[in-house]
Amino acid sequence: MDIEKVGEMPVLSTDRVRVAVRVRPFSQREKSSGSQCVISMHSQSTTIQDPKKREHVKTFTFDLAYWSHDGFQKNEDGVLIPSDPTSKFAGQSDVFRDIGRATLDSAWRGYNATLLAYGQTGSGKSYSMTGFATDKGIIPRVCEELFQAIEKQKEKLEAQVMFSMLEIYNEQIRDLLSRTKAPGGLKVREDQQLGFFVEGLKWVPCENYAQIEKLMEQGSKIRMTASTNMNANSSRSHMLITIQFKQVFLDTAVTKQSSINMVDLAGSERQKSSGSEGDRLREGSRVNLSLTSLGNVISALADSAMGKKVLHVPYRDSVLTKLLQSALGGNSRTTLIAAISPADICYEETLSTLRYAERAKKVQNKAVINTCTLVRASRAENKLLLGFGDAGAAEHSACLLAELQLETRVTWAHLLEQARREWAQQHAALSQEQQMVKTLPHLFNVNEDPQLTGVLKFFLHSGSCDVGQTASNAICLQGLGISDKHASFMNSDGKVTVVPYSNCKVIVNGVPVTNRTKLQHLDRIILGSNSAFLYIGFPSERGAEDLSRFDYDFFQLERAIAEGVSADMLGTVSPRDGQADPSILAVFQDYVKLMPLVVEANQMSEELEKGLKMELKVKNLALSDSRGCDLQKEVMVKVTKQQTREVWIWSKAKFINRKFLMEELYQGFLESKGNQVAQEDDPFWDPVEAVHLGSAHVWLQSLAHCMMLEEQVEFVNCDGLEEAVLHIRITPCSPEGWAHAEDDMVTDPLELLGKRVDFQIHIVRCLGVKWLKEDANRGIQMGYKIYDLPNILYTKPVWNSVNPRIEETVHFAALGASRGFLNYLLTNALIVDLWGLQEGCVHFGFSQLDVLLTGEGHIMVDTKNFSTVKNMSQITSNQVPELYQKLLKLEQETELLRHVNRALKEENVSLKASLERTGSAQQGQKSDNLKGTVMTAQLPTARETKQMCAQQASCDAQLARALKVFYQGMSTARGQLLTLRQCRPPEADEMLRPFVHQQSQMLEDLEDLLESSLRKLKSDVAFIVKKKKEHLLPSQQ
Ligand SMILES: Nc1ncnc2c1ncn2[C@@H]1O[C@H](COP(=O)(O)OP(=O)(O)OP(=O)(O)O)[C@@H](O)[C@H]1O
Ligand SMILES: [Mg+2]
Repeated sequence: MDIEKVGEMPVLSTDRVRVAVRVRPFSQREKSSGSQCVISMHSQSTTIQDPKKREHVKTFTFDLAYWSHDGFQKNEDGVLIPSDPTSKFAGQSDVFRDIGRATLDSAWRGYNATLLAYGQTGSGKSYSMTGFATDKGIIPRVCEELFQAIEKQKEKLEAQVMFSMLEIYNEQIRDLLSRTKAPGGLKVREDQQLGFFVEGLKWVPCENYAQIEKLMEQGSKIRMTASTNMNANSSRSHMLITIQFKQVFLDTAVTKQSSINMVDLAGSERQKSSGSEGDRLREGSRVNLSLTSLGNVISALADSAMGKKVLHVPYRDSVLTKLLQSALGGNSRTTLIAAISPADICYEETLSTLRYAERAKKVQNKAVINTCTLVRASRAENKLLLGFGDAGAAEHSACLLAELQLETRVTWAHLLEQARREWAQQHAALSQEQQMVKTLPHLFNVNEDPQLTGVLKFFLHSGSCDVGQTASNAICLQGLGISDKHASFMNSDGKVTVVPYSNCKVIVNGVPVTNRTKLQHLDRIILGSNSAFLYIGFPSERGAEDLSRFDYDFFQLERAIAEGVSADMLGTVSPRDGQADPSILAVFQDYVKLMPLVVEANQMSEELEKGLKMELKVKNLALSDSRGCDLQKEVMVKVTKQQTREVWIWSKAKFINRKFLMEELYQGFLESKGNQVAQEDDPFWDPVEAVHLGSAHVWLQSLAHCMMLEEQVEFVNCDGLEEAVLHIRITPCSPEGWAHAEDDMVTDPLELLGKRVDFQIHIVRCLGVKWLKEDANRGIQMGYKIYDLPNILYTKPVWNSVNPRIEETVHFAALGASRGFLNYLLTNALIVDLWGLQEGCVHFGFSQLDVLLTGEGHIMVDTKNFSTVKNMSQITSNQVPELYQKLLKLEQETELLRHVNRALKEENVSLKASLERTGSAQQGQKSDNLKGTVMTAQLPTARETKQMCAQQASCDAQLARALKVFYQGMSTARGQLLTLRQCRPPEADEMLRPFVHQQSQMLEDLEDLLESSLRKLKSDVAFIVKKKKEHLLPSQQ
């Protein structure tokens, strides 16, 4: 390593934050949901494509871009390497070569160096920073090479390396090298020379890389225990490793000091996906504060670098930004690694990460070579090592230099000696543990964060061994749902068994056990809500298995399957080929992922005596699709207050947000701060609200033919079951509200094109409402929205009646029916939503704000056409009535013209008839054998024409009636079909499954058949009508 000549004056270098981007391979979840890669990289540029609008492409240029997505294979040491010489795959060694070496180089020169990994959860931050098993990341490689270089330089200088490791969770600092936890965490102090530093943080002097490896292992163990104790997810914490590297040049009495900070930041989920957006309670907790502040600091510094005036950089807003003050805009050479997922489903997050990185690259730092005399160095160092804000020492005079030199060396030697003693103790413990791993059966922890898997090992010595929260247990285990005395393991006669204490939850291979159960090597055990372990059996049972197969997802999937949850049961498997639809499969995976969280939330609710019961549900979005297609499903959480039977429906995002807040409250409870919280801050509380119970589909086809429709349709709930029955009437009518007669029916809906179409929707009543049957004090309300109506129209709330009468009529008018509107009527259903009201909840009102009204006060639909004529938003409210008047007048004039036209036509016919009568009278007097007579004789007489017209009219009316009956029948059939398709057997039964598949397939075939017959009939009728018109027109003229 090249060592710069040390001068007395600090050397200033202004440099930008370097930014690297790295894209990882698809995860299992992304693969099985058929994800597409939206990232491409060419040299330094990274391009991202919007999966919804393929032509939307954005390109970013960063200092470095690493393609780690594909083109790799695993070598015999488990390291990922390029699969062939042409592959552009960048492995851990490539990343280290650029970023790690540059960091080391800066350190040797005496600059502070910082490395930050930023990106959403699961994007590969920890993989790049720490790495997994043999595929080591930057941190271990930097440490390893640092000691290799020190070894080479040891003749010339004395190098001192101090190591610290901390975690910031919820604005509290946890020392990951110390087993004693400071209440409220360690504090950040500020010193004039040192800037911000963590008071009382443990710094361990290290002499070789092996020691650092052990410290990191120990740190992970404490991090794992801390996250279990806090019931928190490690993705939400920042991990900061700092190496203080000092080179002491004894001959010149000068030191060069570098602080190497390596930070694995918390997952950078934006508020939208983390769920706090749209929730009454934002993630008020401070979990996100550090990351938000980091963003603000970067933005302020980027603005300042772009020449904008920035008055204040908010370093002091959070713990993280205080500790990174020198790294950003200060005395450090800094590199940011933006870790990204390649998958389309992560597009928004990835784009947000790339934008963040784009801003970060503008930040300018002012790195200084940190050289000082031993006097200054020793003062600063004492403060740091002893953890005091002020060493209080008087200025040393130069003549004390030699003494200080000696003192510094003695201090260092003393620290090393102390550390060696600790090492010796730990070494003994570690080698004992290694020995036990080889000989004893044990439990091996499996965590959601792969970094923390395997850091805890509980050995099962022969005899019995209790597990529980209290210290009296042989295995003391914290965690949600773990009782003081939870379960007992027994190792005797060459076998290990487990038995839970009364009512304690123990799950073996997905199945809850209540009796003593024998364990087999590699059995999966879940204790309490979610503490997962892999059982490693006796050495004789073991083989060369790949333990990584049994990851957290494996445990959860197995548990879900054992509980009867399957992609099949959630309706995500196509009945046609039995294959899961990849896009919908993601819903199943969501479900499985949320299951343990719901279990934990219920456990917290129970312990905090909140009385809430949370259940996962799959909402079928077909319920809200007006074409009734089985488009998509969505996971949601139904929350019931057991005592009052109040119900809430939370979206997945809202539940996740609430879960974090629950954890925080629960943590306070465990720390004996009680469970008292103001109602408006309580994550277990929400104001009572209306609950969506189900939707009814009323097909609008009859309206397109101007036929009245009266139906009783089912409200189907999210389980596909009947919630209530809706009695509804839709009547085509005149602008005055007179119902059209049967003869007004039109065979071809296109006849209505451009004409005024009036109709009334009459909600008659609602029958057999289950919600009301369950609790008579409840109420209901219904809401619907037709075509382009901007608002939802709600019926008035009705309480305390199982079959409430509604009797509400709304008159709608499309002033000039557009093709789009007629098409909508032909192919769509009106979706009527049923809402459950509960005591104290605010019911829905109707705002007329955006609704246009006709002169008669009817609600206008299909308004697009005349919104384009005049941009309605630009019309002032005063102009609106005036315009309506004009429009109405025009409408009336058109109607009048139509009347005139009709009268003229009739007159024309009768004129023609009388003309013919006179003509034939005259002809009677003339000779019979004129040629022209033959021609005229072929034309029908006026009487015949009248007769034909009358016959025609009666045929039309008959056809109209026949079609009406037919379409009504079709609507009912469609409704029933939809219900049938939603309807699934309550339990997945192996015997039933093939039958259900076959039945679903038959239903789908029937649906296809019905649809195609209907389509055919429609086109035939349209064709006949067209032909009839062509035929009639010449004879009428
Ligand atoms: N470059 C890569 N090559 C191969 N696998 C990778 C790579 N990056 C990430 N992975 C894999 O992706 C998964 C998630 O990575 P990792 O744990 O590093 O994410 P993270 O960003 O640290 O997430 P969190 O914010 O939850 O801590 C891991 O299983 C890891 O092995
Ligand atoms: Mg991580």
